[in-house]
Amino acid sequence: MSRVLLFTGKGGVGKTTAAAATATLAARSGFKTLVVSTDTAHSLADALGVSVADEPTEVAPGLYLYQVDTQKALERQWGELRDYARDVFAELGLDEITAEEITVLPGAEEIIALLELREQALTGRWEVIVIDCAPTAETLRLLALPEALDWHMNRLLPVGRRLLRALSPLVRRLAQVSMPGDHVVGAGERLHRSLLEVRELLTGPDTSVRLVLTPEAVVLAEARRTLTSLSLYGYRVDAVIANRVFPAEGADPWRRRWVEAQSRHLAEVEQSFAPLPIHIVPYLDAEPVGPDALARVAEVMYGDADPFAPPTVDPPLRITAEGELILALPLAGKGEVDLSRKGDELIINVGSYRRVLALPAALARRSVREAALRDGFLRVRFEAGGPDDREHE
Ligand SMILES: Nc1ncnc2c1ncn2[C@@H]1O[C@H](COP(=O)(O)OP(=O)(O)OP(=O)(O)O)[C@@H](O)[C@H]1O
Ligand SMILES: [Mg+2]
Repeated sequence: MSRVLLFTGKGGVGKTTAAAATATLAARSGFKTLVVSTDTAHSLADALGVSVADEPTEVAPGLYLYQVDTQKALERQWGELRDYARDVFAELGLDEITAEEITVLPGAEEIIALLELREQALTGRWEVIVIDCAPTAETLRLLALPEALDWHMNRLLPVGRRLLRALSPLVRRLAQVSMPGDHVVGAGERLHRSLLEVRELLTGPDTSVRLVLTPEAVVLAEARRTLTSLSLYGYRVDAVIANRVFPAEGADPWRRRWVEAQSRHLAEVEQSFAPLPIHIVPYLDAEPVGPDALARVAEVMYGDADPFAPPTVDPPLRITAEGELILALPLAGKGEVDLSRKGDELIINVGSYRRVLALPAALARRSVREAALRDGFLRVRFEAGGPDDREHE
């Protein structure tokens, strides 16, 4: 199994730098390392000071860069879906849709990049995989997607397939548009399975997220929300990286004001994110570009900590033997959390984020007795009893 490290945070805070630095250190520590970007700008290659690689390419000893070419990946993996979309567009009398147009769909590029990542993880070739994620909001929506997709697929696919079998000849005659053929539905199912596997990999025991921030009020506010929502969706955050911290020594009045403001915010960072370790990276006098500069950033950033040890943080969601569901929601306010029940699912809203949680069989038929948010944990208790106590629908 590869150790997988994801880097996320607000735009411009230093995600790519932190990811590239960590990957460089991993390779120099002797791990066969892959660093992947879900970002279409080629910043990762720029940070490493190399040219873009559209397949895993060794850019330093033991360090492989893969900047996913979404067009190519789409062609190779998901041609059937593209062909179907193209046929439908043609039948509707619209212009032919090109592969370029499909990847313009929101999130499509990142999803394709994550699917490629799964392929890479499956090869078993990598000891460490580092992922430079898109800025906060997109990554979150994206990471939650397989689950949301699961929810839709579980409902739509069986119905769709049944409908297709029963109606297909008739519909083909009546409707303007072809129903998707079996191979298209097959490709849809394959996509669905792959996305579930991506999610499994990213929430698995060898994966953790590192939250990058700069000690500034606006950035900190967003990082706090990100921590809550990552936990809501089941991702483990195992460290915070505070980047661009002004050194205090020899400061002129202008820098002194920055140092003061930053140290106030750093104190808040520690309070907010304890017990997570906070790794500090100073504001350097030049952009850290190239393996040597990045390796130095990583050494300062991690100090004595072992950045590649398996994560020790618990998974956010667990269900006790007594049938209590416990979900870590760090930093969530009481007024923000809202719970509802729909059939076998528990719908948890936190601020503007929502998770639809399919309850395990043992709890699916028991109604919620009480739910409370305490010390950063949502605890949901269920009524005792078996299938006979089925909740009214
Ligand atoms: N500690 C630092 N000292 C000096 N320069 C830095 C530091 N960290 C990052 N930079 C520089 O700041 C710029 C932005 O950093 P980076 O590209 O890593 O941010 P990002 O979070 O990936 O941005 P984006 O959201 O656009 O992907 C880069 O030019 C990088 O070299
Ligand atoms: Mg970046």
